[in-house]
Amino acid sequence: MSDEPLSLRTYLEQLRQLPPTEFVRVEKEISPVHEACALMDALEKQNRRPAFLFANVRGSALPVVSNIFASRRRMALALGVAENQFSATLFAREAQRIPPEIVAASAAPVKQVIWRDDEIDLRRFPAFTHHADDAGAYITGGLMAIRDPETGVRNVGVYRHWISSARTLGIHLSESSHANLIYAKYCARRQAMPVAITIGYHPAFYLGVLSFVGLEVDEVEVAGALMQRPVPLVPCETVDLQVPAHAEIVLEGFIAPDERAAEGPIGEYSGTYGYQDAAPVIRIHTITMRRDPIWLDIFAGHPDHQLLGGTPRLASTYRAVRVACPLVREIYMPTAGVGRYICYIAIKKRFEGEAKNVACAAFGADPFIKYVVVVDEDVNIFDDSEVLQAIALRSRADSFFMIERAKGHSTDPVALDEYLTHKIGIDATRPLKGYPKEIAVPGAETINVKDYLPEF
Ligand SMILES: Cc1cc2nc3c(=O)[nH]c(=O)nc-3n(C[C@H](O)[C@H](O)[C@H](O)COP(=O)(O)O)c2cc1C
Repeated sequence: MSDEPLSLRTYLEQLRQLPPTEFVRVEKEISPVHEACALMDALEKQNRRPAFLFANVRGSALPVVSNIFASRRRMALALGVAENQFSATLFAREAQRIPPEIVAASAAPVKQVIWRDDEIDLRRFPAFTHHADDAGAYITGGLMAIRDPETGVRNVGVYRHWISSARTLGIHLSESSHANLIYAKYCARRQAMPVAITIGYHPAFYLGVLSFVGLEVDEVEVAGALMQRPVPLVPCETVDLQVPAHAEIVLEGFIAPDERAAEGPIGEYSGTYGYQDAAPVIRIHTITMRRDPIWLDIFAGHPDHQLLGGTPRLASTYRAVRVACPLVREIYMPTAGVGRYICYIAIKKRFEGEAKNVACAAFGADPFIKYVVVVDEDVNIFDDSEVLQAIALRSRADSFFMIERAKGHSTDPVALDEYLTHKIGIDATRPLKGYPKEIAVPGAETINVKDYLPEF
């Protein structure tokens, strides 16, 4: 990797080298209210998921980038590796934490422009309204940094932020998030919680801070591990937090311990609307940004959102399942399961029953998972039809087992009592003994198709 500081821009430069299947630029003027998302959705329905750069979004001078996380190839590019190296690289780097470094404001492009108090109107930003029943424009590509008041450890995550007025944002804190736990600590102390929301930075940073690590871990160190360098952070103007110096935009503010207002709905990763709730309110008092910032949208409720949320957590699930079976080959949460509810795991099975242990380990590692399908290593788990075929051929009804009323997640459209669910593990591995010999065509692996069909 070069020494140039990584940013959304350095990544966009790489995307520009890719074919239109991975990156497209839309010059025609487009509305941030539904129209941009309609275009992305129409292509998605044709099974095409490029990253988009919308150069001309109505009502704003800022270009908008969206859908960058909707392909594993692009996430691999963010780590600087080929797609077939992505999982191994993600899992290996996640554990090699690299602390950030602090740089001066003069070396931080995100400080080029500063707006304070009355100068601020969040509605000037080109935040998209994604779905028909969404409450309005949402910041979906924001990384909110906070600090645990007891331990001082930093916490960063992506949370939906509804632009509710010129200087306020609604936020949804899921019951299981660390941010919710930390906010409860501030509430218990009757203190406001300072926040800094970074919009637009290198995608490896997003993948790193969304890893599933303990409350005691600074997720910026995990991001540094994925980026293979210390993340340059710069102190905020008004809150005791630091943010990526090469980000596009940063919103500084606080959440009071007692303020609540209606927030939602918004289309969620589950493909259904997240409920409206009396939610905490973020008051923004300072904005710092580049002179020519780029807005980053994440296409909520779609593979962009599903894969970004579903991929980083695989590193911790992988660690857990490797204890149950050392020969885990690959692990994936497909968009068919909205990146959360279905987990495919390929193993080299050595013992009968091992696949069941693997499924139990995955359930323990990630409460969102409702179905685990364990297959043999010859099954390509990035192809849903291969997994289905393994279920059809290598499992029977008694290869399925159920765990009743385990912790799921409140966004699950069919959750019981808010967040409980039943979970099913499926052992779709071949029995070690007695499975019939599988057919094979000699030469199919090595034949050069072009010798016979040059047009292919
Ligand atoms: C696009 C996107 C939107 C998300 N929105 C929310 C949200 O509104 N609330 C929430 O609690 N988690 C949301 N998440 C999930 C959190 O970012 C994720 O669980 C993160 O690891 C939470 O970090 P924490 O446990 O350190 O707070 C979202 C994730 C993505 C990718």
